[in-house]
Amino acid sequence: METELRRTWESAAPGWAKWEDVIAEGLADVTDTMPDMAGVDAGMRVLDLACGAGSQTLRAADRVGPNGRVIASDISATMLMHVQEAAKRRGLSNIQSLECAAEDLPASAGVFDAAISRLGLMLFPAPKQALKAVQSVLKPKARFSALVFTTPSARAC
Ligand SMILES: C[S@@+](CC[C@H](N)C(=O)[O-])C[C@H]1O[C@@H](n2cnc3c(N)ncnc32)[C@H](O)[C@@H]1O
Repeated sequence: METELRRTWESAAPGWAKWEDVIAEGLADVTDTMPDMAGVDAGMRVLDLACGAGSQTLRAADRVGPNGRVIASDISATMLMHVQEAAKRRGLSNIQSLECAAEDLPASAGVFDAAISRLGLMLFPAPKQALKAVQSVLKPKARFSALVFTTPSARAC
């Protein structure tokens, strides 16, 4: 199943990157709220789960600054390539890539001060497993903030 999922997102990646600026503009407010809620601050090591083409990764990288680091993780290598290209264009050298399914985050990823995820969690085949994996790499009391969409009938409030 993972291979098929990977293939699906690989084929979506060029289109996602093409519309990245439009997506970024439309989601600008919530994109800033997300790291606020996760307590992302200067010098932190932050995980961006399912980063896609990475406009929220860049904003997080601006926020953690030169002494911090954002690990951009995604199941699609092409998405990660777009993140690195965008980082290069912006002169950001504090973004690292991690290609893996969210459900399989390795312990070797190290520990994080905070984690964010924009429009990823609700698409994962095993979101609970992904949440457990994120929890396992977060420092005690570190926060994870995710932007998700759902149907009106399923919303909590
Ligand atoms: C809707 S896009 C959102 C991308 C980006 N976060 C944004 O807001 O523009 C979903 C992303 O989740 C990634 N993805 C899907 N399933 C995944 C999984 N199981 N583990 C990690 N990434 C996954 C896709 O490759 C894609 O980049």
